[in-house]
Amino acid sequence: MPAGAPSASLAQAAAACATCRACPLYAAATQAVFGEGPPRAAVMLVGEQPGDEEDRRGHPFVGPAGALLDEALALAGLPRASVYVTNAVKHFKFVERGKRRLHEKPSAREAAACRQWLDDELRLVRPRVVAALGATAAGSLLGPSVRVLRDRGQVFPLARELGAPAPDVVVTIHPSAALRAPTPERRRELRELLARDLALVGARAAGRAP
Ligand code: URA
Repeated sequence: MPAGAPSASLAQAAAACATCRACPLYAAATQAVFGEGPPRAAVMLVGEQPGDEEDRRGHPFVGPAGALLDEALALAGLPRASVYVTNAVKHFKFVERGKRRLHEKPSAREAAACRQWLDDELRLVRPRVVAALGATAAGSLLGPSVRVLRDRGQVFPLARELGAPAPDVVVTIHPSAALRAPTPERRRELRELLARDLALVGARAAGRAP
């Protein structure tokens, strides 16, 4: 499957993504981490990129940010098993500091190179609502003018022709923002804020929110 040609199934897209060389990130990462979840989920969550643990295990949101995301999903009443979870960038970008691999934010160019795989996922899963978790996902889905703190909790149309009904996009914070909170109170506040936005996503996907 040549890069750029739309995939016919999620399995085909994941296999093609595994050999992607559209940007340099593949070289240092262990593997591409493709999205997972019900193949016709009404809700898709889009994060930034796999973290250290996701890179090693090959699954999205299975590390500390995933644990916080799971807590917020539970508060929102949205079962993780019902949502399709993926990332804007499929390879882990990091710098090595001794034995540690420290996360580095992917560039807009790297996110754009990876967008073909997210487009495949959007076209094949056909979610009703997509949650953009943080700035990289929001920028990839909505363009460079989006601002997470200004725009979170709001619904935007996905302005892209994919040959499938366009989903709504709800912008929210990345779970790591809560993990990095300076106090337990702030962490709880941010987790609840994320849960509120995810509850809106779930309600809208179920046709229960304007
Ligand atoms: N952060 C993300 O954005 N995605 C993951 O899969 C894990 C951490």
